[in-house]
Amino acid sequence: MDITRIKIFDTTLRDGEQTPGVCLEAGEKLEIAQALAKLKVDVIEAGFPIASPGDFAAVSMVAANIQGPTIAALARANKKDIDSARQALEKAESARIHTFIATSDIHLEHKLKMSRGQVLAQAQDAVRYARQFVSDVEFSAEDASRSDWDFLCQVYRAAIAAGATTINVPDTVGYTSPGEFGALIAYLRENVVNINQAVISVHCHDDLGLAVANSLAAVANGATQVECTINGLGERAGNAAMEELVMALNTRREYYRAATGIDTKQIYRASRLVSTLTGIILPPNKAVVGDNAFAHESGIHQHGIMNHALTYEIMQPESIGISHNTIVLGKHSGRHAFEERLKQLGHELDSQTVNNLFGQFKELADRKKMVFDRDIEALVNVKKTEAPE
Ligand code: KIV
Ligand code: ZN
Repeated sequence: MDITRIKIFDTTLRDGEQTPGVCLEAGEKLEIAQALAKLKVDVIEAGFPIASPGDFAAVSMVAANIQGPTIAALARANKKDIDSARQALEKAESARIHTFIATSDIHLEHKLKMSRGQVLAQAQDAVRYARQFVSDVEFSAEDASRSDWDFLCQVYRAAIAAGATTINVPDTVGYTSPGEFGALIAYLRENVVNINQAVISVHCHDDLGLAVANSLAAVANGATQVECTINGLGERAGNAAMEELVMALNTRREYYRAATGIDTKQIYRASRLVSTLTGIILPPNKAVVGDNAFAHESGIHQHGIMNHALTYEIMQPESIGISHNTIVLGKHSGRHAFEERLKQLGHELDSQTVNNLFGQFKELADRKKMVFDRDIEALVNVKKTEAPE
């Protein structure tokens, strides 16, 4: 079976830093960039150098110190931004300038105050200018998913003709749906005559909770680069979460016929690091990296898991770098899980004693949300001091 290699373009340090309330210092960005290099992402978007002197310094520091992934810097489609990006990237082993301009009529009318013809010319000029400095130029049509499809085709064709090596299709406001976005990628592949000269990338936001689903639909229709962030950080509701996208492709490799180069065992560590440095705490039920992602509470599930993990786990905790799953003892837990925990705590008890203790455990679990090891120890100790029955 042919497996298509999907490039992971991580934008935790750029779009992820646009998460309201998040501000990373250069040293913190470098620490995250090191974790991203260990994950083996293909591209690290390190920042938007024109945005502030601090961001310029951070991009320069990442460019000078990270080997392996390509380092990208963002620039609007003008010479001043592109000059700033290329200067910040000077020391990079492999550098990419990522330039963008909006293409939707909403943005043209209310933000840029430009005609379609002017946007097309500016996009082409910016790509041509950036190509004077680096051989790797990405062009994004901001708000692509709300743009006229035929105008989009014209803009991408012009950008590729000017030297863009990647064309990115952003769902800037998280507006699209999987069916529609997949159809857009297929349309571009059919109607942009020179599309084979560039990598097709997507960049989805999560305003309707569809960023990962939309990215996967794009992959199914021929996109070969996905832009994403650790823990799904990013502007407003965030971007496609890297850990979800990568594990979806890993878990359903045959279905998507696609694979990334990510070392998935580094996922949990990177997720915790980003959460600590940004101060954005993950909800316990967050897919893949939340505290409950590998925790089993109901007796039926616990029993299944103890027989074979595949019964209720579609991926193993070890695959993302967690040493084992968690059996949470609560009121839905069964006797099997309870007896297993007793054994783990060193108590090999006869079946009658286990039955008695299990009854007391259930009463306790009705009063407490979770029963901890120390509660079980207390039940066992009380039992030991009771007169024999
Ligand atoms: O969401 C967006 O459109 C962006 C672009 C700059 C790629 O972040
Ligand atoms: Zn974005």
